[in-house]
Amino acid sequence: MKQSKITISKDYRIAKVDPRIFGSFIEHLGRAVYGGIYEPGHPDADEEGFRRDVLALIREIDVPIVRYPGGNFVSGYRWEDGVGPIEARPRRLELAWATTESNRFGTNEFMRWCKKANTEAMMAVNLGTRGADDARNLVEYCNHPGGTYYSDLRRSHGVEQPHGIKLWCLGNEMDGDWQMGHKTAAEYGRAANEAAKLMKWVDPSIETVLCGSSSSHMATFGEWEATSLDLCYDKVDYVSLHRYFDCSDGDVKNFLAKTLDLDNYIKTVVCVCDYIKGKRHSKHKIHLSLDEWNVWYHSHGAAFEKWSEAPHILEDVYDFADALVVGLMLITLLKNCDRVKVACLAQLVNVIAPIMTENGGKAWAQTIFYPYLHASRYGRGIALQTLLETTKHDTKDFTDVGDVDALAVWNEADETVTLFAVNRDFEEENRVSLNLKDFPGYVPFEHISLAGFDLAAVNTKDSAPVKPKTSPLSGTYSPVQEFALAPLSWNVIRLKKI
Ligand code: AHR
Repeated sequence: MKQSKITISKDYRIAKVDPRIFGSFIEHLGRAVYGGIYEPGHPDADEEGFRRDVLALIREIDVPIVRYPGGNFVSGYRWEDGVGPIEARPRRLELAWATTESNRFGTNEFMRWCKKANTEAMMAVNLGTRGADDARNLVEYCNHPGGTYYSDLRRSHGVEQPHGIKLWCLGNEMDGDWQMGHKTAAEYGRAANEAAKLMKWVDPSIETVLCGSSSSHMATFGEWEATSLDLCYDKVDYVSLHRYFDCSDGDVKNFLAKTLDLDNYIKTVVCVCDYIKGKRHSKHKIHLSLDEWNVWYHSHGAAFEKWSEAPHILEDVYDFADALVVGLMLITLLKNCDRVKVACLAQLVNVIAPIMTENGGKAWAQTIFYPYLHASRYGRGIALQTLLETTKHDTKDFTDVGDVDALAVWNEADETVTLFAVNRDFEEENRVSLNLKDFPGYVPFEHISLAGFDLAAVNTKDSAPVKPKTSPLSGTYSPVQEFALAPLSWNVIRLKKI
């Protein structure tokens, strides 16, 4: 048995967690929209065609913000195609994913769906094949009350009140040559500046997100952020990061250590943002939006029919190992919540998603659903600097990897503390002693865990073995509490004041 020591204090705070870090993402890709959130004719669809079974799972997680409509899709999207009478909407070749887009679902359907899902929209504009003019028109369509061409067009589409969308992405992954309208950092920085300028002139209350690198492994990483940000610094509020992990080589030990790379990526982007801030003698602080993150590799290479509508693509079936990595990614996000204010698990339904559906049939929770649910439910409050002494190991790509990773969140309002912890060790239990001296009267009352599964165990529509177990805890106060973390486990230890 191994041992770890954790100390938390009310005085050592990282930041108040912005709930938007528990956001997600819906792209017009595969069956995320069609057959995912929207399926008229499904036995559980409501009068607008939204699947109630999927809405119920999304509400269970409590997703505060959803990015839309892409992703790579947005870089060729004409938003006008997706508004107005459905029968008149054009069918288009969708070049990002080589499918056909029917446009039966568009901006107003998405905004109505957001209300039912109890979430907010994070809208992306097309800076690939289009630019500032279309971007400002979309802001006018969505956010201007009325009396102008685009606001009245919205009203003529039956939407009297403006949508009031606050957060806007300035394109998507513009650094990647797979992107429609791929740009150099300088070209993009200028385009983003002009688009954001016009969008904010239409509605000064909005916030904008600049596309950072598509991954820290891009050859232009670092330089991309510095060059583009310098060209639009005062017009943007966030820089985006995208990060997906894979275990294609089957080395799970190394896979579980990859969150060290995410931590490093976040800290590097913070440094670049602050370098530009310093260089410009600016008071404006840029925050980060990790607006695509997840595990993604199971579906690589899966074939589908070109130009088909809503095909089965990117439908990763997640296993228990993936759930542990997602848990570790959430811990990493919380550790960096002083600068990461928005994050989107990519994506939400069917496409690399915690929720899967069958067309005309069931909806179910994948393994990764659970750490996401727990973090969203119990990770709201003040993230505490969690002083962690743990044994370490090396993996193929990383050295000094903690056997345990952990982070505590204090919810001052309901007087609870939640410790999120992963034991990366394959064989040994880890006994954690948590120093609670600064939280007199806080008693442990439950330990939720995902543990004891085969690393390859998955949930399907017919069988869902990977589910959390909740064990009651003693409920008595002691300044140092001990908890056992099973080998290869995700743990949520909850304490409340009595
Ligand atoms: O989330 C899937 C895709 O991954 C997105 O469309 C793109 O932005 C990223 O490369």
